[in-house]
Amino acid sequence: MDEIMDEKNIWKEKICAALNEALEELHLGETVDTGDIIAELPPKPEMGDLGFPMFPFAKKFKKSPPQIAALVVNKVNHPSLAQGSAEVFTLGPYVNVKLDRAQTASRVISAALNANKDFFTGGKNSDKKDLCGKKIMVEFSSPNTNKPLHLGHLRNDVLGESISRILAACNAEVQKVCIINDRGIHICKSMLAYQEYGNGETPESAHIKSDHFVGKWYVRFSLMEKMEKAEESALERARQLLLKWEAGDTETVALWKQMNQWTVNGMKETYKRTDISFDKYYFESDTYLRGKDEVLKGLERGLFTKEVDGSIQADLTAENLDKKVLLRKDGTSLYITQDFGTAILRHDDWAFDKLVYVVGSEQRYHFQVLFILLAKMGFAWAKDLYHLSYGMVNLPEGKMKSREGTVVDADDLIDELRDMALAEIRDKAREEIVGDAPQTAEKIALGALHYYLLQVSPERDMLFNPKESLSFNGNTGPYLQYMGARISSILQKDEAKALLEGKNDDAKIKFELLVSDSEWELVKTIAAYPEALEAAARAMNPSLLASFLYELSKNFARFYHECPVLNADTQDLQRARLELCRAVLAVLRAALNLVCIPFLESM
Ligand code: ARG
Repeated sequence: MDEIMDEKNIWKEKICAALNEALEELHLGETVDTGDIIAELPPKPEMGDLGFPMFPFAKKFKKSPPQIAALVVNKVNHPSLAQGSAEVFTLGPYVNVKLDRAQTASRVISAALNANKDFFTGGKNSDKKDLCGKKIMVEFSSPNTNKPLHLGHLRNDVLGESISRILAACNAEVQKVCIINDRGIHICKSMLAYQEYGNGETPESAHIKSDHFVGKWYVRFSLMEKMEKAEESALERARQLLLKWEAGDTETVALWKQMNQWTVNGMKETYKRTDISFDKYYFESDTYLRGKDEVLKGLERGLFTKEVDGSIQADLTAENLDKKVLLRKDGTSLYITQDFGTAILRHDDWAFDKLVYVVGSEQRYHFQVLFILLAKMGFAWAKDLYHLSYGMVNLPEGKMKSREGTVVDADDLIDELRDMALAEIRDKAREEIVGDAPQTAEKIALGALHYYLLQVSPERDMLFNPKESLSFNGNTGPYLQYMGARISSILQKDEAKALLEGKNDDAKIKFELLVSDSEWELVKTIAAYPEALEAAARAMNPSLLASFLYELSKNFARFYHECPVLNADTQDLQRARLELCRAVLAVLRAALNLVCIPFLESM
């Protein structure tokens, strides 16, 4: 395996060795560790490529930082240590390094082009023991079956899918799972409305996508609730339906099955469309009884109490939390009851090292309670559960309200984005160039949507602006897709193909020609990929990869503006720049895939 072109770490080690050598000579009985060395990116090009502050060592050396910096530079520049043509110098309290551009370019480009394993897995595996080979289960999407997926789910879905891809890229073993909350009062509401007013209508007869069809009855239920008198309330009838369901009433169960099937089938179409997938679906109807058992066991063991009203509760006041109902007075299960069962069954199925729940921030309290209670019940793995909480996503005022006027259906939003993208392709008369225009428009829509949703840190609330997301200039998905298409088209040109033919002969490529500032910036950006990937995996934050992609695209645009590729002065330069383009494309494609943005050859 090639050595990774991780210049930063190489230099950290060199500086560390120099510091220790100097300390030894001073007989101070102190040492430093590579982990103590901080690497910074100097703010100005003339300050070099890396800067190492010496402040942290003042105490150990009993000297001022500039004095220490001078000592280190002396050591590092000693003729016995060959530095290539890197320059090492002091700037006040800093040791600064100007890297050898030609040497670095050659190593970085080769790593990207030869799909160097360490490069594409976010750094040396030996440094990533907490990720590499770890069994990480990621739960996301997890819809209720009373209505179709909405805008909030789109953020959840892409976060879960992207985090899973990022962790897997860092060599974690990932299982993507979904819990379908198919049981409970919410689905009974849609069922009740359909039972009373449905007249045997079906999604087919109504020509409505099947999950939207169920959603229509959920909306109808709200209307019923508004119109009816309290004593014969629709909610009460829905509760009766839930009791009948839990008692196994044949007719109720048949209706429930039918309506859930409609919803789940419809949702699966949306997942497919957005390139979201799961290794396993769990259904609340299969897990809630296990949860109920655990609650009853806990009652026997004195962990929980039976209240006078007959409900079973957990007292968490000692933990500064509330009392929590775990089984209702009528014996029916609650949301948390099924979550006990779901977690336990998951751990039985696949003994994870970590289970990540991608769920909205409004459920923070729920997960806090869930994790504490599972620990109380004695499940040692409760400490490995993690709630990845994300913020709300809204549309700007006045944009695309759904029929109910509150949430926006996922399908409708994607349709709208696709139509806008298609109109743009037609306006610009690019239909011939792109080939299949509707398909391209769909991919642009997904790129726009996914990037917009991921570029914000998960914990932050956000507004989704459809028009802005589709813009070709600026920090958007289509801008990144456009860079990919642009590089692809350069590489597709006949002259490029002819030049690249002798490709296997790396020795012939004169990387030392790639030393202009914009080439160098681009090389350094490529070199930053493993670090960006690893940081995104550790923080489970795809926005870190999103910013990396934007940097890469911007730096490519600048390079392409300043450095002619096929019109470069010499063949050697053309060839070297083409290799640089290929390396950018390899990294761009890999990173786009991790943030769920479709790659386009042309657009
Ligand atoms: N279905 C729930 C909802 O729509 C989210 C489920 C989250 N996952 C969990 N294991 N509780 O609010």
